[in-house]
Amino acid sequence: MMTMVMMAMTLTCSSLLFLGLLTAQASSSDVPKTSTSPTPPSSSSSSPRMKLSYKDLLAFHGVRRYELDRSCCFSTMLLDEERGRLFVGAKNFLLSLSLDNIAKQEHKIYWPAPVDWREECNWAGKDINMDCVNYVKVLHHYNRTHLYACGTGAFHPTCAFLEVGQKMEDHIFRMNPSLIEDGKGKSPYDPRHAAASVLIGDELYSGVATDLMGRDFTIFRSLGRRTSIRTEQHDSRWLNEPKFVGAFWVPESENPDDDKIFFFFRETAVEAQGLGKATYSRIGQLCRNDMGGQRSLVNKWTTFLKTRLICSVPGSDGSDTYFDELRDVFLLQTRDRKNPLVYTVFSTSSSVFKGSAVCLYTMNDIRRAFLGPFAHKEGPNYQWVPYQGKVPYPRPGMCPSKTFGSFESTKGFPDDVIQFARHHPLMFNPVYPLKHRPVFLRTNVDYSFTQIAVDRVAAADGQYDVMFIGTDVGTVLKVISVPKENWDNMEELLLEELQVFKDSSSIINMQISSKRQQLYVGSETGLAQVPLHRCSIYGKACAECCLARDPYCAWDGTSCTRYLPNTKRRYRRQDVRNGDPNTLCSGDHHKHRVAQKKLYGVEGSSTFLECLPKSLQARITWTYQRTTDTPREEVHLDDRVLQTDRGLLIRNVLRRDGGMYQCHAMEHGFTQTLLGIALEVVPSSSPSSALPSDPFSSLNHGRSVNQKMWYRDFMQLVDHPNLNTVDQICEQVWMRKNRQPSKAPVPAAPASGKPAAPLGVPHGPPSKWKHLQEIRKGRNRRTHESKPPHRAPRSAGEW
Ligand SMILES: *[C@@H]1O[C@H](CO)[C@@H](O)[C@H](O)[C@H]1NC(C)=O
Repeated sequence: MMTMVMMAMTLTCSSLLFLGLLTAQASSSDVPKTSTSPTPPSSSSSSPRMKLSYKDLLAFHGVRRYELDRSCCFSTMLLDEERGRLFVGAKNFLLSLSLDNIAKQEHKIYWPAPVDWREECNWAGKDINMDCVNYVKVLHHYNRTHLYACGTGAFHPTCAFLEVGQKMEDHIFRMNPSLIEDGKGKSPYDPRHAAASVLIGDELYSGVATDLMGRDFTIFRSLGRRTSIRTEQHDSRWLNEPKFVGAFWVPESENPDDDKIFFFFRETAVEAQGLGKATYSRIGQLCRNDMGGQRSLVNKWTTFLKTRLICSVPGSDGSDTYFDELRDVFLLQTRDRKNPLVYTVFSTSSSVFKGSAVCLYTMNDIRRAFLGPFAHKEGPNYQWVPYQGKVPYPRPGMCPSKTFGSFESTKGFPDDVIQFARHHPLMFNPVYPLKHRPVFLRTNVDYSFTQIAVDRVAAADGQYDVMFIGTDVGTVLKVISVPKENWDNMEELLLEELQVFKDSSSIINMQISSKRQQLYVGSETGLAQVPLHRCSIYGKACAECCLARDPYCAWDGTSCTRYLPNTKRRYRRQDVRNGDPNTLCSGDHHKHRVAQKKLYGVEGSSTFLECLPKSLQARITWTYQRTTDTPREEVHLDDRVLQTDRGLLIRNVLRRDGGMYQCHAMEHGFTQTLLGIALEVVPSSSPSSALPSDPFSSLNHGRSVNQKMWYRDFMQLVDHPNLNTVDQICEQVWMRKNRQPSKAPVPAAPASGKPAAPLGVPHGPPSKWKHLQEIRKGRNRRTHESKPPHRAPRSAGEW
């Protein structure tokens, strides 16, 4: 009969796990084959180093949630650092939330579409609740006291001024009904369309459809004192079914007359005709001081130019694979206002090749493309070629200013310039990303990138651009790109994958506050506020902190904490570039004692040695030493001794399995010992009097069916990637067990005649009881022991 040492434990969740394992041995001869592979999962740079669940983020990592009844679609967000507010536009509502905690101190303005507009919209065949409501699509700072907002207004675009007060303390948030105005050319009609806009001075530049049918797309300047101005109408060379993504204002020189507005969009490519309907991504430019032409292009842009944005990877067959669907743009400001870095995310439109990429462009490369040849097509049966003829002066695309010429206004441009501009809005040369390839790439994953925000972080070995990438499954990826040996050889590090939304809805907006170190994320269903870093999750040891390579975090002598370059603390240790603990964490005071556990296994039964590395990129190896006198060797894996994601499973334990086990994590060339487990094998024939009493032993008959089931459950759960802890595994086993109450083992009077141990009360030798408890408590503690092979220190150069 089986002896059950583990029964001495209380029926806590993880005791159930062990119970499940032990009882499984009753039929070990016909244990079902599982899919568990004897080889450990290979560490791969494609998996995130850390993966945090929605539950954990909410409970332990300061993530806050905001939801609003009867609303949705938090697609517009405006950060106001001075007032400490996050202004948000959603369905029928405008919100003012606290930047420190979006869940607190909310102010709301209910802004529905009037009933008659809704009815009109409904008569036109649109859905009364989905379409015929007001979706806020535009939200900008207007002046020191007011914001400007526009919404779809049930297919009746409308804009309004919002009063927000001068100071934070004012707590003003109201809409003046007398300041409501027509939003045609500012907000789209259709809630499914996006608008890209930027408000400069008192003028709004928007990329939007200006008609009910959504056919007349334009880049439009309105508001302010100057006459409205737009792109040429119904000319596919100018705009061809565009989807606008972003609009930005970038100065080109010290002279404001040279200021330009850039629009990012994707559209059906005119130059790719004949290849079916291809989508290309674009950047378009305009001069802020464009007043339109005098005789031709009246109230139309005379300085509009556009070109293709390329984001591609070389394919194995030599042809490039293109990411053609631009999704989002983030301008990272540098010290030079004229030269922000342009971070973009793209996905593919191909049904064959699925993937997303982050591409980075410089203003220099963008400006060079606009100074290059114009794309030219002689007639319907001609190819697009670089224009070879003489380009009129002043060159189209140049702003009228003292810097580059003597023209006061675009109205003074010669006719040939206007004519040329009208027929040549497209440039021949595309813009390539920095180093002609993406800085970050995901292929063959079942999600795509939708949003990006970037934070420039000063670290001990230089500055890093930390990319926060939103996906269409409610996750945020935190990524950096690190030079390996030189600038041409970059390593991409996926530091964290955060499940920010419970319901895996697509992320549709993201704003970042470097000042508050927070990321604000909007989806269809809600808003979330996520701190940019959680240094403590990496572990307390120097090596753990160092291996994390998170530019926000450094080891401070006792734990992993936020790194601030100007604080003069002695023990700050950080090495983002090399992540080499051998160099960084040498010296005995950095060593941690390896946690030791004791575990009992029953001969002939199964036992599980749990060891969970903090990093998903760590590769786990197990070593074994029979006694302190015998050499330590690697654990031999086979059908009986299996390595799983969460530890070592020994089926059918033999007496010779007893000894000292160690679990080691290898990552980035560095090995640390996480845990030592002393396994003591209890012979199955040993008299039960030497062991704690077994309240279940009388139930062994007729239980093998149930045991097999438990075993199968356990094996499934062990390999389940979404369950993070033993507790979760146990919870699942416990729940399944309770679903079949008639089959579940219940404590009964033991055969030996001893009184039954009441559930929850330890029974048996107290020392063994303590060990079992320690196994539970200590399983997440990580330490490292270092006898690492010596390596020559690498220099961590500035870059
Ligand atoms: C801001 O604009 C609004 C709307 O035009 C106006 O009523 C208000 O007086 C302006 N405030 C300032 C400080 O100029």
